[in-house]
Amino acid sequence: MATKAARGIVERMFARKSIAQVQRETAASELKRTLGKWNLLMLGIGCIIGAGIFVRTGSAAALHAGPAVLLSFVVAGIVCAFAGLCYAELSSTLPVSGSAYTYGYTTLGEFVAWMMGALLMLEYGLAASVVAVGWSGYMVSLLGDFGVHIPPQFTGPAGYPLMRGGVPVLLDGRPVTTIFNLPAFLICLALAALLVRGVAESAKVNTIIVAIKVGVLVAFIAVGGAIVLSHFNELVARNWTPFIPASQGDGKFGVDGIMRAASIVFFAYVGFEAISTAGQEAKDPKKDMPFGIIGALVVCTLIYMLVAAIMTLLVPYTALNVPDPVAVVVDSFGPTWSWLAKLIKIGAIIGLTSVVLVLMYGQTRIFYTMARDGLLPRVFATVHPTFKTPYVNTVLVGVITAVAAGFFDINVLGDMTSVGTLSAFSIVCLSVIYLRRAAPDLPRGFTVPLYPVVPLLGIASCVYLITTVPMKVLMFFLWYLAGGVVLYFAYGIRHSNLQRGELQDEAPDMGEYVAPVGEQP
Ligand code: ALA
Repeated sequence: MATKAARGIVERMFARKSIAQVQRETAASELKRTLGKWNLLMLGIGCIIGAGIFVRTGSAAALHAGPAVLLSFVVAGIVCAFAGLCYAELSSTLPVSGSAYTYGYTTLGEFVAWMMGALLMLEYGLAASVVAVGWSGYMVSLLGDFGVHIPPQFTGPAGYPLMRGGVPVLLDGRPVTTIFNLPAFLICLALAALLVRGVAESAKVNTIIVAIKVGVLVAFIAVGGAIVLSHFNELVARNWTPFIPASQGDGKFGVDGIMRAASIVFFAYVGFEAISTAGQEAKDPKKDMPFGIIGALVVCTLIYMLVAAIMTLLVPYTALNVPDPVAVVVDSFGPTWSWLAKLIKIGAIIGLTSVVLVLMYGQTRIFYTMARDGLLPRVFATVHPTFKTPYVNTVLVGVITAVAAGFFDINVLGDMTSVGTLSAFSIVCLSVIYLRRAAPDLPRGFTVPLYPVVPLLGIASCVYLITTVPMKVLMFFLWYLAGGVVLYFAYGIRHSNLQRGELQDEAPDMGEYVAPVGEQP
């Protein structure tokens, strides 16, 4: 009797949406094939560049890899390439508007889809908090340039000593302990308010923002590169010797440190899978998808390596653990370039704002889809009568991201995002293998080269990077997953439409609710 009940539960956990069902649910969204390979490349670069390079590179170099953070970018880029190819195959095989959550629902079943939803909360919701903290770092610094000083206690997470260049910041002769990151908190709430009103940002605005972000980094590379070249040998001797600092154990420097830093700078690539979700809009997915994904990863890796090389050559890596490392390095260019420092800060702020917006939007969409599947309360799919946006859901996302950004340390938030995203990526790689076996004859617009080597390497490399993250974060992650499992049995499995043999709820009228920058998940 008990065995029968257990078997029933397991069957329910692995209930899958059929491909026909998902097709019916997304039938309304016949998309035109308008995106060429260069559009896909731009879309990718637009989603990728953000706090990873502007902020997290600093602490990855200062605390873990030293100048060899350059190699960490290569490692993280390769891991993303494996996962990216798997995303491309799934999106060209399962004609669903959707994210890894929908892929999970059609391949490995409802329980995996639910857990994928939990992981995507880290990839989108928590990542938005990380970028908001990065935004705050550049904003505080820029305001300081104009003589506006926010009380330092309100510029960092709860209970952390405020440091600048490895030295404690003093206020009235005493070291400052931060209480709350006010700017990061406020930007999350402000952008949530914007999303509630519905921002219909055009592709043109997106292109301008991408141009600003890339332009700022190119200016940094051009000017910094010229300074580096004029003193190359001296700088190499001073700041790049040794290139790989000797290991101090525990992921600090040496080869271990490079790998640990790879799991940190992995954050800099999060978002590239947005390219694969545009699979249905690609003119020639077989050729254009790998070009877009691998091309964006290669371009960003090159930009990241150049930026990191200039940063670690011009400033000793130990001084880079600051909220605005790129700006700190520009300050070292000398007083003639103080205008460039301000310009770079402004560019970074604009670029980071758009990344927070896109990530928050992505999170609201995941909640919305899960609510329509009955896995979350219906209120998450409720649409505002005037603004036609899922406002309850958006307000909740705004408050959660704001609180996380306001009170938590960026390193902890960033590690949680990396672990969640790496886990999601490994499930995507597994789904490719599953689908090749379960439905070998499905027409596939794009197939992973060297199957099954690429998905297997994808899974192995993601799992390996997860193991480099501190135990404290991994334990927190396990508790988070355990909470997810409990909620699934307490709510998800009981309310799921699929379990009741129903289709997804009718889509509420979202009128003009358009993605802020390109369609995300
Ligand atoms: N890759 C994005 C960033 O670095 C999330 O901000």
